[in-house]
Amino acid sequence: MSPNRNTARDFVVVASRLPVDRVESPDGGKEWRPSPGGLVTALEPVMREAGGAWIGWSGDAGPAAGAFTADGLQMVGLGLSETEVRHFYEGFCNATLWPLYHDVIAPPQFHRCWWEAYVTVNRRFAEAAAAQAAPGATVWVHDYQLQLVPRMLREQRGDVRIGFFNHIPFPGYEIFAQLPWRQQVVRGLLGADLLGFQRRADAGNFLRACRRAAGLTTKGTAVRVGDREIHAAAFPISIDAAGLAEIARRDEVVKRSIQIREALGEPALVLLGVDRLDYTKGILHRLRAYGELVDEQRLGPRVVLIQVASPSRERVAAYQTLRDEVEVMVGRINGQHGEVGYAPVHYLHQSYPREEMAALYLAADVMLVTPLRDGMNLVAKEYVVCRTDETGALVLSEFTGAADELGGAILVNPHDIAGLKDAIVRAATIRPAEARRRMRTMRRRVCQHDVARWAASFLDTLRQTAPNSTAG
Ligand code: G6P
Repeated sequence: MSPNRNTARDFVVVASRLPVDRVESPDGGKEWRPSPGGLVTALEPVMREAGGAWIGWSGDAGPAAGAFTADGLQMVGLGLSETEVRHFYEGFCNATLWPLYHDVIAPPQFHRCWWEAYVTVNRRFAEAAAAQAAPGATVWVHDYQLQLVPRMLREQRGDVRIGFFNHIPFPGYEIFAQLPWRQQVVRGLLGADLLGFQRRADAGNFLRACRRAAGLTTKGTAVRVGDREIHAAAFPISIDAAGLAEIARRDEVVKRSIQIREALGEPALVLLGVDRLDYTKGILHRLRAYGELVDEQRLGPRVVLIQVASPSRERVAAYQTLRDEVEVMVGRINGQHGEVGYAPVHYLHQSYPREEMAALYLAADVMLVTPLRDGMNLVAKEYVVCRTDETGALVLSEFTGAADELGGAILVNPHDIAGLKDAIVRAATIRPAEARRRMRTMRRRVCQHDVARWAASFLDTLRQTAPNSTAG
């Protein structure tokens, strides 16, 4: 496909989701509003600075939204039919790849009709990218939903530079090998010039898959495919640290955090968990540990855990089961240990704007980030950035990408309930001087390695890796 010369863009982001939601406007019509989520938070500042087009899906079944601008950003909305939502999004993306890439915490399902929908939808994204990209443009493809796009795009547009970033873990070969279409996925990814992963271990797993599933040779971070050399390396993603710290310093946000503690009855200790309601996040393990601690009164009287669990993938069976289990466990803890005017768990199955999140982070003495597996986990980074006075403590699972960077956290194995309980008690009783020392180290790291630096580092490397893309 040749580029559309009226709209040709030098920089194109291709991600399964648009960074906006279609919502009711005050006058009863419809409007696009920025949507929450790690990828959006990460890429929005980069998009603004570089200019460019963002190709994605709105999240609802229906026809393509087409090209439009939202808050000054150029969007190209693609459509998915109801069947494609079930087979591509809920099926292959979130009931095959998601559990497979997260260490099979839930059993992945393999269905040929889901794979066919994955191929069809990936082709739609590749064609849209081919139509948007100017000659010699840079196209940045994101995440596990679009692993075939790099190759499909290269077949149509040999002139563009293609980067791919995988936001979630890339599994060890013994797990990846279960995928009936493992070779097609590896070949699809290898259409890119540069493949970015969260951790070195993920890049290593991918390189191993190139050798084992596709019989290719690798040397260091490089894979050779014919006369092309593709690089796979770690680029740990981050957040807009300065933007979030500015929000956390606002008077109204600080006031709101005080209000939150007042509304909770001024407890001596507030713990916080913030996750999408997803089985990879270890919410049940966390609740189990917390419930036992309350039972044993190891955290003092009237301790409160606020658990924000934002709704996610609600039509996928494993998510429905998880929601039931979480709600039963919350009900049990509150039923056993609550009193009139006091509940040990405040469970919020909702999403909140950034300001309210910052107020929650400020209100929490201890942040619990305990996934069983997580590519990075930006919540951990958000918490430390909001703690501008260097108080607070972070309990962090060693199975997150963030654990590689946040050495000041109290690291835990979330499967070890006794160890998790001890870590929570340790965080709750940490001496202020030690807490400050740890928080300072973590804040420095995240503030220096923010999302702008992440994007710049990926894009610079892409430019060096593929210097010869021909500008037309
Ligand atoms: C993770 C993935 C993203 C995804 C997000 C929300 O962060 O890495 O690619 O967009 O979850 O999931 P959803 O299924 O709602 O897009």
